[in-house]
Amino acid sequence: MRIVLAPMEGVVDHIVRDLLTQIGGIDQCVTEFVRVSDQLLPPRVFYRLCPELHHEGKTPNGVPVALQLLGGKANPMAENAARAAELGAPSIDINFGCPAKTVNRHDGGASLLREPKRLYEITHAIRQAVPDTTPVTAKIRLGFEDKTLAIENAQALEEAGAKEITVHGRTKMDGYKPPAYWDWIGKIRENLKINVIANGEIWSIANYQQCRKESGSQDVMIGRGIIRYPDLALRIKNYQLNQASEPAIDVFDVLLRFFHSSQQQNKSKRYLCDRTKQWTSLLGIGHPAAMELFHTIKREIDAEVIYRHLLNAKSRVQDSDRMAT
Ligand SMILES: Cc1cc2nc3c(=O)[nH]c(=O)nc-3n(C[C@H](O)[C@H](O)[C@H](O)COP(=O)(O)O)c2cc1C
Repeated sequence: MRIVLAPMEGVVDHIVRDLLTQIGGIDQCVTEFVRVSDQLLPPRVFYRLCPELHHEGKTPNGVPVALQLLGGKANPMAENAARAAELGAPSIDINFGCPAKTVNRHDGGASLLREPKRLYEITHAIRQAVPDTTPVTAKIRLGFEDKTLAIENAQALEEAGAKEITVHGRTKMDGYKPPAYWDWIGKIRENLKINVIANGEIWSIANYQQCRKESGSQDVMIGRGIIRYPDLALRIKNYQLNQASEPAIDVFDVLLRFFHSSQQQNKSKRYLCDRTKQWTSLLGIGHPAAMELFHTIKREIDAEVIYRHLLNAKSRVQDSDRMAT
């Protein structure tokens, strides 16, 4: 019954991981990807993408963070995995699902799903290079153009020593277009001995239940659903445990906490503006008041002005709550 927060390049960094794991319900996180070409990368690259390495690879709330590697060459992937393990990564996760054209052109991510043998070689090399105590996991899609290699790819990962895999229930060609084929995740699971984590299109408790039913997986990974509804993992857990739901979270609190953490971490003004707008727009899909705020700040480039709008939006919500009670 684990819930893993999906890796999301340019969205889920250590600040967001901290915030979301504080809200609760999340059992594991994954970093943004460390891109590996030919070289052994310096430790600072790993620390930049995973500052949690300074704290045994865990968020301040104690949730382990897997270190995600992306690349197509077995040897450098193995060397960098060994370095990540030395620096204290709790586990290594290999990205075989990224659909981005630039990544696929450089022989990484989903493009490797056309060659199960290479999935095996990369995963096997990494498995050999890191200590037995460091789990190696991988994330795949159902295929590149179509699903014909779905089971073969997953079996290659199992044979190579992956401890578990996450399957995003779509091909690279499907992109992010619904639906996610949860039944296909089930077909893969039935052909493996290792654990299969189901991923794709979980936006609600009902989706979660349906995904588990169709895939047969105990564990799920959720990405955009948690960004849009930051307490989704917590609500799912409470529902599973038959516990009363917590009161709905205040999305402006989440945004303000994000803003404060980013300032404390000395993030640039550009980061503050862009990421606050990004998250406001994502939250806005599920929360009309956040969408209203997004329309107010979307062209704003002054972080202080954005902050003032955020405070105003929060106090407007507080006022209307007071009027309602
Ligand atoms: C903006 C964005 C960035 C992503 N970055 C990564 C990544 O770095 N590695 C990866 O394996 N998947 C990445 N994904 C895919 C997600 O991890 C996940 O598989 C996908 O969003 C489907 O799950 P969801 O429907 O719960 O969002 C990304 C997705 C999005 C939308």
